[in-house]
Amino acid sequence: MKRSLPLNRAKWLVEPGCVVLVTGGTMEKANVMTISWQTPVQTADPCLVLLVMHQGRYTYELIRQNNELVINVPGADLLDQTHLVGTVSGRQIDKFKEAGLTAVPGQLVQPPLVAECAGHLECHVVQTFTVGNHDLLVCEVVHASVEEDFFDGAWIPEKFQTLHYMSATQYGLLGRRVDAGEDC
Ligand SMILES: Cc1cc2nc3c(=O)[nH]c(=O)nc-3n(C[C@H](O)[C@H](O)[C@H](O)COP(=O)(O)O)c2cc1C
Repeated sequence: MKRSLPLNRAKWLVEPGCVVLVTGGTMEKANVMTISWQTPVQTADPCLVLLVMHQGRYTYELIRQNNELVINVPGADLLDQTHLVGTVSGRQIDKFKEAGLTAVPGQLVQPPLVAECAGHLECHVVQTFTVGNHDLLVCEVVHASVEEDFFDGAWIPEKFQTLHYMSATQYGLLGRRVDAGEDC
């Protein structure tokens, strides 16, 4: 069961700098890629998340067709799938099929959600900036949903571990929540 999330809480889905799966296109023609260069840039009114995307990505080609995308948050159970969709291009293969991921319709945008992910930010691309061969996509979150058992205002690491890119084929897992001031 996923519940809708107030948009002023949406950025907490990606606050810890986790690796995300970004979908573009439509339910009929979609693609998915891995992104680790992402950051919230404004909490609310509207909630804005910045993605750094190489201009050559096939996903970006699809995003440019309707200026919409979905930021999906995978957990440790999707480690291999996350690496796979980040290392091959959808120009050659159907990555949803290859990775065993399921595309399901979103609420307010045309690109699908990745059903196996625990959180989703449906976004409109509202501004882009070019920096060398990458573009910075300013994404306005128009709908957010999250697996309710895994999130109580922040991810609960004992139940859901986000992936954090380390290098090459290596990822870190979010392990534990600690309070500032606590011994850890
Ligand atoms: C962990 C990880 C993080 C990545 N982060 C980014 C990123 O932030 N921006 C980007 O443009 N590509 C990033 N990539 C590379 C793309 O996901 C990769 O080139 C992908 O195959 C593009 O697929 P597409 O051509 O089907 O869109 C990353 C790959 C991995 C494995």
